[in-house]
Amino acid sequence: MTVNMDNYTPQPGTPIEELETPCFILDMDSFEHNLGVVAETYTSTVKMRAHTKNLKSPFLANYQIKTGGTSGGICTAKVSEAEVMIEGGITDILIPNQIVTPDKLNRLCSLARRADIKVCIAEPQNLQDISRIASENDVTIGILVEVDTSMDRGGIRQVEDGVGLAKLTQALPNVEFRGVMSHQHVDGWPTLEERVNIGRKYVQMCLDVKDAIEAAGISVDIVSSGETFSYKIAAEMDGVTEVEGGTYAFMDTMLGFMDEFRYAGKLLGTVVSKPNANVVIGDVGLRSLCTINGEYGPSVEGVPGIKIPHLHHHQMTH
Ligand SMILES: Cc1ncc(COP(=O)(O)O)c(C=O)c1O
Repeated sequence: MTVNMDNYTPQPGTPIEELETPCFILDMDSFEHNLGVVAETYTSTVKMRAHTKNLKSPFLANYQIKTGGTSGGICTAKVSEAEVMIEGGITDILIPNQIVTPDKLNRLCSLARRADIKVCIAEPQNLQDISRIASENDVTIGILVEVDTSMDRGGIRQVEDGVGLAKLTQALPNVEFRGVMSHQHVDGWPTLEERVNIGRKYVQMCLDVKDAIEAAGISVDIVSSGETFSYKIAAEMDGVTEVEGGTYAFMDTMLGFMDEFRYAGKLLGTVVSKPNANVVIGDVGLRSLCTINGEYGPSVEGVPGIKIPHLHHHQMTH
Protein backbone atom coordinates (compact mmCIF):
# COMPACT_ATOMS: atom_id res chain seq x y z
CA MET A 1 0.00 0.00 0.00
CA THR A 2 1.32 3.50 -0.79
CA VAL A 3 0.85 6.10 1.92
CA ASN A 4 -0.10 9.60 0.82
CA MET A 5 1.87 11.59 3.40
CA ASP A 6 -0.38 14.66 2.96
CA ASN A 7 -3.26 12.70 4.40
CA TYR A 8 -1.22 10.49 6.69
CA THR A 9 -2.88 10.44 10.11
CA PRO A 10 -1.78 7.50 12.23
CA GLN A 11 -4.54 6.34 14.55
CA PRO A 12 -4.16 6.47 18.33
CA GLY A 13 -2.60 3.21 19.45
CA THR A 14 -0.56 2.67 16.27
CA PRO A 15 2.62 0.83 17.40
CA ILE A 16 5.73 2.99 17.10
CA GLU A 17 7.36 0.53 14.66
CA GLU A 18 4.44 1.02 12.26
CA LEU A 19 4.73 4.80 12.04
CA GLU A 20 5.95 6.27 8.76
CA THR A 21 9.32 8.00 9.23
CA PRO A 22 10.75 10.54 9.64
CA CYS A 23 8.16 11.28 12.28
CA PHE A 24 8.10 13.84 15.07
CA ILE A 25 7.37 12.21 18.43
CA LEU A 26 6.40 14.15 21.53
CA ASP A 27 7.26 12.21 24.64
CA MET A 28 4.47 13.47 26.90
CA ASP A 29 6.08 12.20 30.13
CA SER A 30 9.20 14.25 29.42
CA PHE A 31 7.15 17.25 28.26
CA GLU A 32 5.12 17.19 31.49
CA HIS A 33 8.32 16.78 33.49
CA ASN A 34 9.83 19.91 31.86
CA LEU A 35 6.71 21.98 32.46
CA GLY A 36 6.64 20.67 36.03
CA VAL A 37 10.22 21.87 36.68
CA VAL A 38 9.14 25.39 35.73
CA ALA A 39 5.91 25.19 37.76
CA GLU A 40 7.92 24.18 40.84
CA THR A 41 10.63 26.79 40.30
CA TYR A 42 8.42 29.81 39.55
CA THR A 43 6.55 30.14 42.78
CA SER A 44 7.41 33.82 43.37
CA THR A 45 6.21 36.84 41.42
CA VAL A 46 8.46 36.03 38.46
CA LYS A 47 6.63 33.88 35.92
CA MET A 48 7.32 32.05 32.70
CA ARG A 49 5.98 33.61 29.52
CA ALA A 50 6.93 30.71 27.31
CA HIS A 51 8.17 31.33 23.78
CA THR A 52 6.14 28.97 21.61
CA LYS A 53 8.69 28.88 18.77
CA ASN A 54 8.92 25.11 19.12
CA LEU A 55 5.43 24.13 20.40
CA LYS A 56 3.53 25.85 17.61
CA SER A 57 0.31 24.40 19.00
CA PRO A 58 -2.37 26.16 21.06
CA PHE A 59 -3.20 22.82 22.69
CA LEU A 60 0.37 22.47 23.99
CA ALA A 61 0.63 26.17 24.87
CA ASN A 62 -2.58 25.94 26.93
CA TYR A 63 -1.24 22.77 28.55
CA GLN A 64 1.92 24.69 29.47
CA ILE A 65 -0.03 27.61 30.91
CA LYS A 66 -2.25 25.32 32.97
CA THR A 67 0.67 23.34 34.38
CA GLY A 68 1.66 26.47 36.28
CA GLY A 69 4.45 28.91 37.00
CA THR A 70 3.46 30.92 33.94
CA SER A 71 2.27 34.49 33.42
CA GLY A 72 -0.84 33.13 31.72
CA GLY A 73 0.51 34.41 28.43
CA ILE A 74 3.00 33.39 25.76
CA CYS A 75 5.44 34.81 23.22
CA THR A 76 5.12 34.16 19.52
CA ALA A 77 7.79 35.11 17.00
CA LYS A 78 5.30 36.07 14.28
CA VAL A 79 1.85 37.59 13.78
CA SER A 80 0.64 34.43 12.02
CA GLU A 81 1.59 32.35 15.07
CA ALA A 82 -0.21 34.81 17.34
CA GLU A 83 -3.33 34.41 15.15
CA VAL A 84 -3.27 30.64 15.60
CA MET A 85 -2.71 30.91 19.36
CA ILE A 86 -5.56 33.39 19.82
CA GLU A 87 -7.83 31.17 17.77
CA GLY A 88 -6.84 28.43 20.24
CA GLY A 89 -7.99 30.49 23.24
CA ILE A 90 -4.83 32.28 24.42
CA THR A 91 -5.52 35.87 25.39
CA ASP A 92 -2.14 37.37 26.35
CA ILE A 93 0.60 37.52 23.73
CA LEU A 94 3.95 39.27 23.46
CA ILE A 95 5.70 39.32 20.10
CA PRO A 96 9.36 39.76 21.14
CA ASN A 97 10.27 40.94 17.70
CA GLN A 98 9.70 43.91 15.37
CA ILE A 99 6.63 43.95 13.16
CA VAL A 100 7.00 46.59 10.47
CA THR A 101 4.86 46.02 7.39
CA PRO A 102 1.39 47.63 7.17
CA ASP A 103 -0.33 44.33 6.41
CA LYS A 104 1.10 42.61 9.48
CA LEU A 105 0.47 45.67 11.65
CA ASN A 106 -3.18 45.72 10.56
CA ARG A 107 -3.44 42.02 11.43
CA LEU A 108 -1.82 42.74 14.80
CA CYS A 109 -4.48 45.40 15.39
CA SER A 110 -7.25 42.92 14.58
CA LEU A 111 -5.79 40.63 17.24
CA ALA A 112 -5.78 43.48 19.76
CA ARG A 113 -9.61 43.36 19.65
CA ARG A 114 -9.49 39.80 20.97
CA ALA A 115 -6.45 39.67 23.26
CA ASP A 116 -3.88 41.67 25.20
CA ILE A 117 -1.28 42.19 22.45
CA LYS A 118 2.20 43.53 23.04
CA VAL A 119 5.04 43.96 20.57
CA CYS A 120 8.69 44.94 20.86
CA ILE A 121 10.13 47.99 19.19
CA ALA A 122 13.65 49.32 18.67
CA GLU A 123 13.20 52.38 16.47
CA PRO A 124 11.00 55.51 16.50
CA GLN A 125 9.70 55.04 12.94
CA ASN A 126 8.34 51.58 13.76
CA LEU A 127 6.65 52.98 16.88
CA GLN A 128 5.10 55.84 14.91
CA ASP A 129 3.77 53.38 12.32
CA ILE A 130 2.28 51.15 15.03
CA SER A 131 0.62 54.17 16.65
CA ARG A 132 -0.81 55.41 13.34
CA ILE A 133 -2.16 52.01 12.27
CA ALA A 134 -3.52 51.28 15.77
CA SER A 135 -5.31 54.68 15.69
CA GLU A 136 -6.83 53.86 12.29
CA ASN A 137 -8.06 50.56 13.75
CA ASP A 138 -9.17 52.17 17.02
CA VAL A 139 -7.21 49.74 19.21
CA THR A 140 -4.31 50.05 21.64
CA ILE A 141 -1.12 48.04 21.26
CA GLY A 142 1.19 47.36 24.21
CA ILE A 143 4.80 48.36 23.60
CA LEU A 144 8.01 46.93 25.05
CA VAL A 145 11.41 48.31 24.16
CA GLU A 146 13.75 45.55 23.02
CA VAL A 147 17.29 45.78 24.36
CA ASP A 148 20.03 44.12 22.32
CA THR A 149 22.27 42.73 25.05
CA SER A 150 24.43 40.38 22.97
CA MET A 151 22.61 38.83 20.01
CA ASP A 152 23.36 41.60 17.54
CA ARG A 153 19.82 41.61 16.23
CA GLY A 154 16.86 43.98 16.74
CA GLY A 155 16.99 46.09 19.89
CA ILE A 156 18.37 49.34 21.22
CA ARG A 157 22.08 49.47 22.03
CA GLN A 158 22.12 52.61 24.19
CA VAL A 159 20.19 53.12 27.44
CA GLU A 160 19.16 56.64 26.40
CA ASP A 161 17.54 55.29 23.22
CA GLY A 162 15.34 53.13 25.45
CA VAL A 163 14.32 56.14 27.50
CA GLY A 164 13.62 58.11 24.31
CA LEU A 165 11.36 55.35 22.96
CA ALA A 166 9.49 55.03 26.27
CA LYS A 167 8.85 58.82 26.26
CA LEU A 168 7.76 58.74 22.62
CA THR A 169 5.36 55.88 23.38
CA GLN A 170 3.76 57.99 26.07
CA ALA A 171 3.39 60.90 23.67
CA LEU A 172 1.74 58.90 20.87
CA PRO A 173 -1.90 57.76 20.65
CA ASN A 174 -3.10 54.14 20.71
CA VAL A 175 0.15 52.71 22.06
CA GLU A 176 0.78 51.95 25.72
CA PHE A 177 4.27 51.63 27.18
CA ARG A 178 4.49 48.31 29.07
CA GLY A 179 8.17 47.57 29.59
CA VAL A 180 11.47 46.23 28.33
CA MET A 181 12.60 42.92 26.87
CA SER A 182 15.86 41.16 26.05
CA HIS A 183 16.92 37.73 24.85
CA GLN A 184 20.41 36.28 25.04
CA HIS A 185 22.27 33.12 24.18
CA VAL A 186 25.28 31.10 25.37
CA ASP A 187 27.68 29.22 23.12
CA GLY A 188 28.63 25.61 23.74
CA TRP A 189 28.05 23.87 27.03
CA PRO A 190 29.07 26.43 29.68
CA THR A 191 29.69 25.60 33.33
CA LEU A 192 27.13 26.81 35.85
CA GLU A 193 29.47 29.60 36.89
CA GLU A 194 29.90 30.77 33.28
CA ARG A 195 26.16 30.62 32.79
CA VAL A 196 25.50 32.68 35.88
CA ASN A 197 28.09 35.30 34.84
CA ILE A 198 26.82 35.57 31.27
CA GLY A 199 23.14 35.51 32.24
CA ARG A 200 23.51 38.15 34.95
CA LYS A 201 25.62 40.43 32.79
CA TYR A 202 23.14 40.50 29.92
CA VAL A 203 19.91 40.54 31.89
CA GLN A 204 21.37 43.42 33.92
CA MET A 205 21.77 45.43 30.68
CA CYS A 206 18.01 45.12 30.22
CA LEU A 207 17.41 46.09 33.85
CA ASP A 208 19.65 49.16 33.37
CA VAL A 209 17.27 50.36 30.66
CA LYS A 210 14.30 49.72 32.96
CA ASP A 211 15.96 51.74 35.76
CA ALA A 212 16.70 54.65 33.43
CA ILE A 213 13.11 54.69 32.15
CA GLU A 214 11.79 54.67 35.71
CA ALA A 215 14.23 57.46 36.62
CA ALA A 216 12.58 59.47 33.82
CA GLY A 217 9.26 59.07 35.67
CA ILE A 218 7.72 56.33 33.50
CA SER A 219 6.54 53.14 35.17
CA VAL A 220 7.67 49.80 33.79
CA ASP A 221 5.31 46.89 34.44
CA ILE A 222 7.05 44.19 32.44
CA VAL A 223 10.69 43.17 32.33
CA SER A 224 10.65 40.14 30.05
CA SER A 225 14.13 38.70 29.94
CA GLY A 226 15.90 35.36 30.25
CA GLU A 227 15.39 32.06 28.45
CA THR A 228 16.06 28.39 29.05
CA PHE A 229 19.75 28.63 29.96
CA SER A 230 19.06 31.52 32.37
CA TYR A 231 15.58 30.57 33.59
CA LYS A 232 16.71 30.47 37.23
CA ILE A 233 19.37 33.17 36.97
CA ALA A 234 17.02 35.79 35.48
CA ALA A 235 14.24 34.86 37.91
CA GLU A 236 16.52 35.62 40.86
CA MET A 237 17.33 39.14 39.63
CA ASP A 238 15.33 41.93 41.22
CA GLY A 239 13.18 43.67 38.66
CA VAL A 240 12.68 40.80 36.20
CA THR A 241 8.94 40.02 36.03
CA GLU A 242 8.88 37.24 33.46
CA VAL A 243 11.17 34.84 31.61
CA GLU A 244 10.78 33.76 27.96
CA GLY A 245 11.86 30.11 28.03
CA GLY A 246 11.33 28.31 24.75
CA THR A 247 13.61 25.32 24.32
CA TYR A 248 12.98 23.78 27.76
CA ALA A 249 9.54 22.44 26.80
CA PHE A 250 10.78 20.02 24.11
CA MET A 251 14.51 20.44 24.87
CA ASP A 252 17.39 20.31 22.46
CA THR A 253 20.89 18.80 22.57
CA MET A 254 22.27 22.35 22.22
CA LEU A 255 21.07 22.93 25.79
CA GLY A 256 21.82 19.39 26.95
CA PHE A 257 23.84 20.82 29.86
CA MET A 258 20.51 21.73 31.52
CA ASP A 259 20.13 18.29 33.02
CA GLU A 260 16.95 19.12 34.92
CA PHE A 261 15.12 19.07 31.57
CA ARG A 262 14.46 15.92 29.53
CA TYR A 263 14.34 15.45 25.77
CA ALA A 264 10.64 15.49 24.89
CA GLY A 265 10.68 16.40 21.19
CA LYS A 266 12.25 13.52 19.25
CA LEU A 267 12.42 12.34 15.66
CA LEU A 268 11.76 8.76 14.80
CA GLY A 269 13.75 7.56 11.80
CA THR A 270 14.54 4.38 9.91
CA VAL A 271 17.93 2.98 8.95
CA VAL A 272 17.72 2.82 5.17
CA SER A 273 21.18 1.47 4.38
CA LYS A 274 24.33 0.00 6.03
CA PRO A 275 27.18 0.50 3.57
CA ASN A 276 29.71 -1.08 5.96
CA ALA A 277 30.10 -2.23 9.56
CA ASN A 278 30.78 1.31 10.88
CA VAL A 279 28.30 3.38 8.91
CA VAL A 280 24.52 3.49 8.83
CA ILE A 281 22.35 5.84 6.80
CA GLY A 282 19.10 7.11 8.31
CA ASP A 283 16.10 8.79 6.69
CA VAL A 284 16.15 11.83 9.04
CA GLY A 285 17.94 14.56 7.13
CA LEU A 286 18.38 18.31 7.05
CA ARG A 287 14.73 18.88 6.23
CA SER A 288 13.67 17.25 9.50
CA LEU A 289 16.56 18.12 11.76
CA CYS A 290 17.91 21.50 10.68
CA THR A 291 21.69 21.84 11.00
CA ILE A 292 24.40 20.08 12.98
CA ASN A 293 25.88 22.54 15.44
CA GLY A 294 29.47 21.40 16.01
CA GLU A 295 29.88 18.80 18.71
CA TYR A 296 26.45 19.59 20.20
CA GLY A 297 24.57 18.13 17.27
CA PRO A 298 21.78 15.57 17.35
CA SER A 299 22.07 12.51 19.56
CA VAL A 300 20.52 9.08 19.04
CA GLU A 301 18.43 7.89 21.96
CA GLY A 302 19.74 4.73 23.54
CA VAL A 303 23.03 4.82 21.60
CA PRO A 304 25.39 7.04 23.59
CA GLY A 305 28.44 8.51 21.88
CA ILE A 306 27.10 8.11 18.34
CA LYS A 307 28.42 10.76 15.92
CA ILE A 308 26.38 12.20 13.08
CA PRO A 309 28.97 13.75 10.78
CA HIS A 310 26.71 14.54 7.80
CA LEU A 311 23.14 15.60 7.27
CA HIS A 312 21.93 15.61 3.69
CA HIS A 313 18.58 16.97 2.62
CA HIS A 314 16.83 13.70 3.25
CA GLN A 315 19.37 11.48 5.01
CA MET A 316 21.80 11.32 7.90
CA THR A 317 25.08 9.42 7.97
CA HIS A 318 26.57 7.91 11.06
C1 LIG B 1 13.03 36.69 21.77
C2 LIG B 1 13.21 35.31 22.26
N1 LIG B 1 12.88 35.02 23.54
C3 LIG B 1 13.03 33.78 24.03
C4 LIG B 1 13.49 32.75 23.24
C5 LIG B 1 13.62 31.37 23.85
O1 LIG B 1 14.95 31.04 24.08
P1 LIG B 1 15.33 29.57 24.56
O2 LIG B 1 14.89 28.67 23.47
O3 LIG B 1 16.82 29.60 24.69
O4 LIG B 1 14.63 29.31 25.82
C6 LIG B 1 13.85 33.00 21.92
C7 LIG B 1 14.36 31.91 21.08
O5 LIG B 1 14.54 31.94 19.92
C8 LIG B 1 13.70 34.31 21.41
O6 LIG B 1 14.01 34.60 20.14
